[in-house]
Amino acid sequence: MDHKRLVVLAISGSLRKQSSNSRLLSVIEGMAPSHVEFRQYDGLANLPHFSPDLDGDESERNKAVEEWREQLRAADAVMICTPEYARGVPGSLKNALDWIVSSGEFMGMPTAAISASPHPDGGKEALASLMMTLKMMSADIPDEASLAVPFIGTKLGSDGSIKDGNIASMLLNLMQALLQAVREKK
Ligand code: FNR
Repeated sequence: MDHKRLVVLAISGSLRKQSSNSRLLSVIEGMAPSHVEFRQYDGLANLPHFSPDLDGDESERNKAVEEWREQLRAADAVMICTPEYARGVPGSLKNALDWIVSSGEFMGMPTAAISASPHPDGGKEALASLMMTLKMMSADIPDEASLAVPFIGTKLGSDGSIKDGNIASMLLNLMQALLQAVREKK
């Protein structure tokens, strides 16, 4: 196995301080092999509302947009974990993805997509919509690297553990599938 340091950019679709999706990302980070560095992207709320009019000349571009694209370019893989709002992807996350359509950082990017919700279907409509957007941008989402996690409120321990063995093993598979996609790309 190649033990070169790999960077996974972790993006939570929730801006909430106590977000279960952000906590789930931390749990997954704890499962990662030691050569994998998780970097949290926390700029969703700073991005302007996307408009092609704002996406012109480099000198006119917004600093937060430049940083978002730069963080994606510096990553070997991306992991998104999002809630479902009104059966869809939260607006702030969709806005961030819209900024990448023209710049193309998701093209061929190994990407894991997760939704987590207290509801029994785990936010699967948001997950499906997120995957459609990512695939439109030619992200590389391995089959085992997408997962809807239901009943999230009962699955996360206060000590940063996951209290469901099945979900824990699916998350491990997801991580392995993501890292395999990175190796296949190199
Ligand atoms: C929700 N929630 C929700 N859940 C779901 O499974 N499907 C949905 O369509 C919605 N819609 C929705 C809309 C709005 C405005 C809110 C505030 C919430 C519930 C949501 O899954 C729950 O609040 C999660 O805990 C949010 O994720 P974080 O913030 O804990 O990561």
